[in-house]
Amino acid sequence: MSRKKIGVVAGDGIGPEVVGEALRMLRFVAEKTGFDYEIVEYPWSADHYLQTQETMPDSVLSEYRDLDAILLGAIGDPRVETGLLERSIIGGIRWKLDMFINLRPIKLYHADMCPLKDKGPADVDMVFVRENTESLYCQIAGFFKKGTPDEITTQEMVNTRKGVERAVRYAYELAKDRPRKKLTLIDKANALRSQDLWTRTFAEVGGEYPQVEQDHAYIDAACMWMVKNPEWFDVAVVDNMFGDIITDVGAMIQGGLGVAASGNIHPGQVSMFEPIHGSAPKYRGKGVACPVATIAAAGMMLEFLGHREGATMIDDAIANALSSGRIADLSTRSGLKTSEFTDILMEVAAS
Ligand code: IPM
Ligand code: MN
Repeated sequence: MSRKKIGVVAGDGIGPEVVGEALRMLRFVAEKTGFDYEIVEYPWSADHYLQTQETMPDSVLSEYRDLDAILLGAIGDPRVETGLLERSIIGGIRWKLDMFINLRPIKLYHADMCPLKDKGPADVDMVFVRENTESLYCQIAGFFKKGTPDEITTQEMVNTRKGVERAVRYAYELAKDRPRKKLTLIDKANALRSQDLWTRTFAEVGGEYPQVEQDHAYIDAACMWMVKNPEWFDVAVVDNMFGDIITDVGAMIQGGLGVAASGNIHPGQVSMFEPIHGSAPKYRGKGVACPVATIAAAGMMLEFLGHREGATMIDDAIANALSSGRIADLSTRSGLKTSEFTDILMEVAAS
């Protein structure tokens, strides 16, 4: 395999700490499995913005296109206007590089980590395919008469046939390779009639995948079923906005934000991997943040880069450490230092 070029945006808050650990794990796995890579670091963060007034310059996009993947820590800081950095950096990378899939595996490794009564690893094992470039996120939005009693705001929910179809197709492809071969479309086509586009596209593309069982749930009900009967879900495909919300429910039932990872994917092009959690500014520099989610994101990145052996080593280490109880708490009160989580994963991987 040729040498891979990996961009790193450590970002804000606990981002640099958890990314530091993910890079340490990556180095360990690379040595064990023979993975050749180089790192290119980018400074985009609140500190960088406050010093330079620069969020992320568009000029860097062409440089990103030469990378194989990007690993991102977390972006967001209360010293900066709400959402400015998130939209410019996370959004900028996702949207401008057309990373049209947000892939969010939701897998529980130990029943004690699940807040749901009587649910265990056999019940929580699903993958969410969140459309990642459209919907309410396309920023066709505005204010009129801002700050007056007559204020009007808009935020358009835009979906295109192309955007919906490529998400739906990706999800069918994923579902057909999983043992259960079940795909659930989650939408709100009863109240938002434009979502009929999802209904029709799902049915049409589904015709090409007779082996995949089709299911459907409205987003409100899906949130309920996730909590009541998570075992009903295998692969789910969902609009960007609804996917943002329901995958946070997913993160909780798999053991919390300490373990939940995601990939922003454009097959065949540079793609970005990140933990689902945010920057948690109050824990910055304290060495208590759990790096497991970022390490899991690095595992997803290796899988995307075609280094299956390295991806499996990371996945297995996390699965073994969590299912055996060697790592029993992923919160900031675990008693483990950030680096100690990685130490345990390395020990498990080496044994
Ligand atoms: C996520 C985050 C982002 C989103 C924010 C930070 C822009 O919540 O990755 O889920 O809304 O997609
Ligand atoms: Mn979110």
